[in-house]
Formats: sequence, structure tokens, C-alpha cells
Amino acid sequence: MNATTHIGIIGDVHRQFNRHDVTQFNQSDYDLLLFTGDLANYWHHEGLAVARQMARLDKPALIIPGNHDTLTAPQLLAEIKQWSRLRRWLAWGQPRRLRQWQRALGRVQVGGYSAHPVPGREDVAVVVARPFAMGGSVLHCQPQQQRQFGISTMAESAARLCQLVEQTSSQRLIFLAHNGPTGLGSSREAMWGNDFWPEAGDFGDSDLRQAVDFAQQQGKTVLAVVAGHMHHHVKGGGQRPWHLVRDGIHYINAARVPRIFEMDGRSVHHHIRLTLTNDGMAVAEQLCQVP
Ligand SMILES: [Fe+2]
Repeated sequence: MNATTHIGIIGDVHRQFNRHDVTQFNQSDYDLLLFTGDLANYWHHEGLAVARQMARLDKPALIIPGNHDTLTAPQLLAEIKQWSRLRRWLAWGQPRRLRQWQRALGRVQVGGYSAHPVPGREDVAVVVARPFAMGGSVLHCQPQQQRQFGISTMAESAARLCQLVEQTSSQRLIFLAHNGPTGLGSSREAMWGNDFWPEAGDFGDSDLRQAVDFAQQQGKTVLAVVAGHMHHHVKGGGQRPWHLVRDGIHYINAARVPRIFEMDGRSVHHHIRLTLTNDGMAVAEQLCQVP
């Protein structure tokens, strides 16, 4: 068993993952890479191009689809507005788009209501939460969730995640989600607070919160909850925290968008490094590196 395990966390990509990232991560000491999703913005073919780039990674990698993955722009709008008939109609092509996306990703594993071992660490598992999350504790992409997982309500989603926690033999867990859990603040600059519709307050996912709390009640150690979706830059000014520790859990919002940006005149690439020591400690660092 490794003395320490290093995990690279790449937040919402939004078209920013290039050959320099592939080289950097392939040459890194990471045992596992976690992606919070949102490879593209509004065009499926752009998501496929990013996925093909990611397929060149040699490291074990796991991704959860975000709300910009395998949805078309009209479908995304129908989901935001909760236009029930239209969202059902526009979801018809999603299974095909998901297959294309998975194929383009190659060895990068696509998770969703699933548990995965951490390479070299039998005691740690990654529990991947509900795909296509868009916040506000709403079961978005319900037609696809129903088809793919047999889940059509938030209560069913929470129950499935708790069942996964129960079935996982690993004592220590890392949750990977697209959007974070409720319970970390309702202000617009809270870790998963709503800045584009501030009256919505806490924009986290209640099913993820239930699963995290359930894991702790079961005596499991939740090392970290890793997600994105609510970008670091807050609408109207300010930044939300990328990291906080509560009840011993490292909450990580990795969504620094754009993840490639200029700093001191140089182009840097953002990701987060999570180190797990053998005695159960976790350390998170935010890195902005010239690749
Ligand atoms: Fe998102």
C-alpha cells in the first residue's frame, strides 16, 4: 500500500484542456485524476474534441458528466426553465451523445451513481454522485436519469447514493460530484451559493448532502467532497472559497473558470492537488502552473 496517494483534481474544463495538460499530467506523480465535468460550453462537438484530448492521458482518470456534457443548448435552456414537455422531447438524443462522449474519452472512466477504488489504496473509494447536476436540489435531466439509472426523484437519488455508501467496503470515502452539497452557506459568495439568482440561496445538492451525512453516521471517514459547477468568480464581484474543512471533511470547489489564464504575464493552468497520507490525513493545495 502506498504511504501517500496524490490525486489531481481538474475543475470544470469549459474547453480548456490542451496537449500541455496531457504532458504535464502524464509526467506527474498523480495516482488518480478526478474531473468535475463540463468539458464544453454549448456545443457537443467541442466537448468531443476535449474528450479526445483527455483520452491521451496515461493516468487512471475518472469524470462525472456536468450539465454542459451531452446536453444541447436548447435542452440546457429547457432544463434551466424546467419546461417539462420540451425537456423530455429534447432529451431524445442524449443516450447517443453520451455514447459518443464515452467513446471519445477512451480510458477515462465516466462515473455516475458508482463507486471506484483508488489505485493502490484498498481503504479509499471514490463515490461518484448524480451526473448532469445543475444545482438547487432539482433532479435535472430526469428523462436521462430515468433511462440510465432508473431514478426519477431527488429522494430516489439520495437513497441510491446512500446505498452505494453502504455497499462500499472501503472505510474512507471521497465524493466526486459536479455540483457540491447543501449546507455550506446561502450567501452569493458561499462555496455553493447562488450568485446569478441570489434569492435561491444555498444552491448545493441535498441528495449529496444526505449521502455525506449518511456516510458519517455509518462510521465511514469522508476525506473529501470534490465538485465544481459554481465558478470561483462570483457574479458582481468577489470570489467564493475553493477549499474549506468542516467536521474533518475537505470540501473542494475546483471550478476555476477559465482554468487557463494569464498570471504575471505567463499562461498558467489551474488544478488542485489532494494528498492522502497513510494515517488518514488529507491535504489540499491549489496550483496555478506553467505547464
Ligand atoms: Fe456546470
